[in-house]
Amino acid sequence: MKNFTTVADIGDIKKAVAEALEVKTNRFAFKNLGHDKTLLMLFFNSSLRTRLSTQKAAMNLGMNVIVLDVNQGAWKLETERGVIMDGDKAEHLLEAIPVMASYCDIIGVRSFAGLTDKNDDYNEKVLNQFIKYSGRPVFSMEAATGHPLQAFADIITIEEHKSVQRPKVVLTWAPHPKALPQAVPNSFAQWSVAAGYDVVITHPHGYELAPEFTAGATIEYDQKKAFEGADFIYAKNWSAFNDPNYGKILSTDWSWTVDSEKMALTNDAFFMHCLPVRRNMIVTDEVIESPKSIVIPEAANREISAQTVLKRMLEELA
Ligand code: CP
Repeated sequence: MKNFTTVADIGDIKKAVAEALEVKTNRFAFKNLGHDKTLLMLFFNSSLRTRLSTQKAAMNLGMNVIVLDVNQGAWKLETERGVIMDGDKAEHLLEAIPVMASYCDIIGVRSFAGLTDKNDDYNEKVLNQFIKYSGRPVFSMEAATGHPLQAFADIITIEEHKSVQRPKVVLTWAPHPKALPQAVPNSFAQWSVAAGYDVVITHPHGYELAPEFTAGATIEYDQKKAFEGADFIYAKNWSAFNDPNYGKILSTDWSWTVDSEKMALTNDAFFMHCLPVRRNMIVTDEVIESPKSIVIPEAANREISAQTVLKRMLEELA
């Protein structure tokens, strides 16, 4: 695997899940693969799970790891070509990328959507510059439009918990006080369809996601109807995608919070969320603390998805 930014990069999902479960049974079986190889993890945005799970995955494979928080201690980076750099940004990405690449073998990048310029976000302007100028394998640790390591972990988790071949998987919008990117729901929808699930997406009018990510899923605007017979409920907030409201909050309707009454409509569904989660906005305490909540094993599988991706990248380098 050269780069990992989208579902297409993983190839056959069933094979990838089987490989991930093999990794999970003995996560130190490939500890020589990363000997004398260095991973650089670059964060333009905050993280708890991605940072820790990816670092752990790399260490399981015997890699050295360097972590850089771009906004805490590094020079502020300019990403626009052709600008006169007379502001607070001291270094251009065009120099910074090859310099950073000279210190490592693989690069992971976290760079969220700015939610102001849809073209920049949906062209993955920052991530693609790393792919173009680093000369190294690059993987997304959540970029503007997708969070593939999360989606891969979500699929692994569903495969571990499902009791029917083709579960009904419902992605539901839920309220949040801040405007959030569409990266997680985009990837979850795309990967769930690719995994062959019966995928239903429910949200208030105006929160339609980009069709390239939701193709194959059913859109149901009635949340309670969507929940009926569901095997998995995946809650997430996102801001509007469609113009002229790109990146805006259109609703904070608390009636969309996932609660026990709605979960009772399901087929005794498991509750999922990528975390971090705002309790009693996205989901009630009762639901997230219930025995059907699998948010912790879901987060734990982030180590497994990251290790499977890094393993494939290292095998390609070998
Ligand atoms: N789910 C996830 O990516 O968590 P972090 O933002 O904490 O990395």
